Amino acid sequence: MSAPLAAASRAALGSRTLLVDGIGELVTNDPSLGEGPLGIVRDAALLVVDGRVAWVGATGSAPWADGATVLHAAGRAVVPGFVDSHAHLAFAGDRAEEFAARMAGTPYTAGGISSTVRATRAADDATLGATVARLAAEALASGTTTQECKSGYGLTVHDERRSLTVAAPHVAETTFLGAHVVPEEYAARRDDYVALVMGEMLEACAPHASWIDVFCDRGAFDGDEARAILRAGVDRGLRPRIHANQLEHGPGVQVAVEVGAASADHCTHLTDADVEALAGSGTVATLLPAAEFSTRSPYPDARRLLSAGATLALAADCNPGSSYTTSMPFCIAVAVREMRMSPGEALLAATRGGARALRREDVGHLGIGARGDLVVLDAPSHLHLAYRPGAPIVAAVAREGVPVGRGPLVDIEPWESPS
Ligand code: NIG
Ligand code: FE
Repeated sequence: MSAPLAAASRAALGSRTLLVDGIGELVTNDPSLGEGPLGIVRDAALLVVDGRVAWVGATGSAPWADGATVLHAAGRAVVPGFVDSHAHLAFAGDRAEEFAARMAGTPYTAGGISSTVRATRAADDATLGATVARLAAEALASGTTTQECKSGYGLTVHDERRSLTVAAPHVAETTFLGAHVVPEEYAARRDDYVALVMGEMLEACAPHASWIDVFCDRGAFDGDEARAILRAGVDRGLRPRIHANQLEHGPGVQVAVEVGAASADHCTHLTDADVEALAGSGTVATLLPAAEFSTRSPYPDARRLLSAGATLALAADCNPGSSYTTSMPFCIAVAVREMRMSPGEALLAATRGGARALRREDVGHLGIGARGDLVVLDAPSHLHLAYRPGAPIVAAVAREGVPVGRGPLVDIEPWESPS
């Protein structure tokens, strides 16, 4: 199946063109281009012109590719770049000891966040920015081409604002999470902290974020606080998303649907009413299985959400406490093994689902006009994302048609399927 190259695009061909040829299996996530919900095209080629997908068709048949950078995928699979819609990258220090204690039986609570808050406040801007840059680069090398990042370890007006300003150059979307937990110095006057978040802190942070988030759970904020904070954010021009129902059954999902949040994240403990509310709304259920893996908690019931018709996203939730990984291939593997998602469902959730959770139409798929964000797998099909957990499965990454990550695309070794 092929789509015509727009006349306007032809004029732009040349050095800003990337041709990926010899693709064994191309996952477009566009059912109008190929087979099934993943829109799979076999023996495919794809042309990216000026950052956007301009043409998809049969291998060896790309029109007007003179002067293009050419990648011969040699039978490899190509999938859309991953969209990681949930991460906390602006922090200092780590909590390896807390992780080790947890593996020895200590349960995870929100209480550990305060030690990261202390370290983050003590770090200078350059150190914080370097951590975001390092983790964003790590994510990109494993195929994440769209990265979200939250504040939430500063919890003062100054530290929340600088968490966002140091993160912004390295990520696609920033989220104000002043309502992560009530910091220690406000323990005896939590209402004052909620007022600060909704007032002066929001005012200082809103110019540097497009989203507002609240951790609505045991040890963090209750439903009324979350609702009020999200509404204040919306009044200030931010769009709402929420951490909901991670540690226990609670009001988070209902608040998400009520305020029209783009996404309710975690969704580990859901009632039937929560599942119905998600399925009947535009709120994406974002599952973060690496957090359950690293906190040794029960996994969310993905099949129940899928059967009800909810839209699912998968995200890595990279943070030093509950999930210190940037790897979307790891999350896909865990979602398939532990949450019984099919490899196709998991890949769709890690790409198109993440895009929906960020209300983005230009990423998460490789349909005509989409951003040329793609991952070349060192494998013949997307099934290998779950089938080869922990293996270095990413051969190359391109963002907006420009090779990035580890080495130029054209340098990857030829790959042929062992027969
Ligand atoms: O998404 N749940 C709240 N926030 C993070 C964990 C934060 C931490 O433990 O440092 C999460 O899992
Ligand atoms: Fe989180």
